[in-house]
Amino acid sequence: MSRKKKFPRESFVSMTELVLPNDTNTLNNLMGGRLMHWMDIVSAISAQKHSNSTVVTASVDNISFKHPIRLGNVVTLKAKVTRAFNSSMEVRIDVEAEDVPNAHKFESNAAYFTFVALDPQGKTRDVPEVEPENDEERALYDGALRRRQLRLILSGRMKPSEAKELKSIFDISES
Ligand SMILES: CC(C)(COP(=O)(O)OP(=O)(O)OC[C@H]1O[C@@H](n2cnc3c(N)ncnc32)[C@H](O)[C@@H]1OP(=O)(O)O)[C@@H](O)C(=O)NCCC(=O)NCCS
Repeated sequence: MSRKKKFPRESFVSMTELVLPNDTNTLNNLMGGRLMHWMDIVSAISAQKHSNSTVVTASVDNISFKHPIRLGNVVTLKAKVTRAFNSSMEVRIDVEAEDVPNAHKFESNAAYFTFVALDPQGKTRDVPEVEPENDEERALYDGALRRRQLRLILSGRMKPSEAKELKSIFDISES
């Protein structure tokens, strides 16, 4: 029997935070750890909405901080599920910051988090597939397979020789 499908928009979550003194370092910039906490929360809610399950964070991909976010800035985090596999889901998070008094908006960073859905007994459970609806969602959906292989190799869960899609990008030997 084929699995249920859901659109990325059904897992879309937007979260807005104001950077307060307790969120900053001694330079009055938002702490990286605080931002990662917010990214974890917004993406976990997105994965919950897609799977209608309890979820746990399985992995976090590279996060680079391009520009400092300042005390008093408004931070908006947008998340949606790009692709689901069996029990796991890849969520993309886009972070934007705004200096509201100066009407200056800027992109902070983007990242991919992977969540796994659990049943009430704590066992992994299959989740609905994702059905992309536009070109951007289709590109994210296609790329998710390569990103999954890369993170499974990096976490020691997959042999490079098994990562067929990555071979088109990297020269991975068969050994
Ligand atoms: C994530 C977790 C549920 C996986 O459990 P497991 O027994 O290894 O389960 P499986 O091997 O069956 O893997 C389940 C899924 O997780 C995925 N997965 C596991 N580790 C992964 C990783 N590091 N990166 C990406 N996906 C991963 C597998 O690919 C698999 O995906 P699929 O079902 O879509 O094919 C388990 O490792 C766990 O509970 N980890 C702790 C989660 C947690 O506490 N997070 C907060 C950290 S502070």
